[in-house]
Amino acid sequence: MERLNLYDLVRENIKKLKPYSSARSEFRGNAEVFLDANENSYGSPLDENFNRYPDPLQWKLKQEISKIKGVPPQNIFIGNGSDEVIDIAFRIFCEPGKDNVIICPPTYGMYKVCANINDVEAKEVLLTKDFQLDVEGVLAAIDSHTKLLFICSPNNPTGNNFNRLDIEFLLNNFPGIVLIDEAYINFSRQKSFLQELTEYENLIVMHTLSKAWGLAALRLGLGFASEVLIDLFNKVKPPYNINGSSQQLGIKALEQINEVNENIKNTVTQRGFLEQELEKFDFIKIIYPSDSNFILVKVIDADKLYQYLLLQGIIVRNRSNEPLCDNCIRITVGTQSENKKLLNALKKYE
Ligand SMILES: Cc1ncc(COP(=O)(O)O)c(C=O)c1O
Repeated sequence: MERLNLYDLVRENIKKLKPYSSARSEFRGNAEVFLDANENSYGSPLDENFNRYPDPLQWKLKQEISKIKGVPPQNIFIGNGSDEVIDIAFRIFCEPGKDNVIICPPTYGMYKVCANINDVEAKEVLLTKDFQLDVEGVLAAIDSHTKLLFICSPNNPTGNNFNRLDIEFLLNNFPGIVLIDEAYINFSRQKSFLQELTEYENLIVMHTLSKAWGLAALRLGLGFASEVLIDLFNKVKPPYNINGSSQQLGIKALEQINEVNENIKNTVTQRGFLEQELEKFDFIKIIYPSDSNFILVKVIDADKLYQYLLLQGIIVRNRSNEPLCDNCIRITVGTQSENKKLLNALKKYE
């Protein structure tokens, strides 16, 4: 690949953008009296300092994330969920009505939704039948307006990792930004691409605290990239995109890594148990190998099974309408007792 000039990929209006400068980002140092941000000087009804605007760049939280992920704080962006990271990538790089991105269905739905919201074409290059990247197909889909490539590994809803060599090939040959969404990486046997950040200036790795960390309600999505890219994200994001409560609770949760590791171990054990037990049902035709906290299965009649489980008070995700996922159901790995309830219900279905 010709050497990329990252700046050439950025939209003209973003290159020229003078970002909003909040009171809290203009002031540096120590002070006793804060009369700069039109906050409520009399305090909040809560114990915490919620009357004050939160740190716009979330440095304390980033320091804790940095210790765990081994990436310097200045190479971290925190979004209001990964969905904000995805949306901002569109807004930095994709000219509405002109540019396009490549996605590889069946995959996480928000890439396409964000493309549609931003009026950006999402070129769809289907995965192969064994749910791997169609590398040739991706290369063929690239044109002079292609800005982003979304790679979700482990992939949702299929659950598997993509071949590492395929991802590396695309990193070396895609003439735009490659976003590797590793939302489920903690459940995977494959190594993260975080270690490759210094190799590839066009790489953004996405993680989230919603899955392995069990903090979906706090909305903490993470983007890791070069400082040049992170600066662009900071320029475009809303000034206080991560609320103070999420910052505080995020820091507190990150101190409890042992508990989180235990939960990951239990999830992986239960995944193995479920895989083994699901084998026993004749109406389950394929159990796709999973490196995630969910399992995709192909059944005889997905609509019927979905409705049956619903009547038993068990909700799974019917993915039948996704390409290559005819009659497929996605089952999140539950706790031991939830999984037993599921298996008991399936026994009665037979
Ligand atoms: C692949 C993938 N990425 C991102 C997300 C969303 O993460 P967040 O909760 O951080 O927005 C999901 C949620 O299901 C997902 O499956």
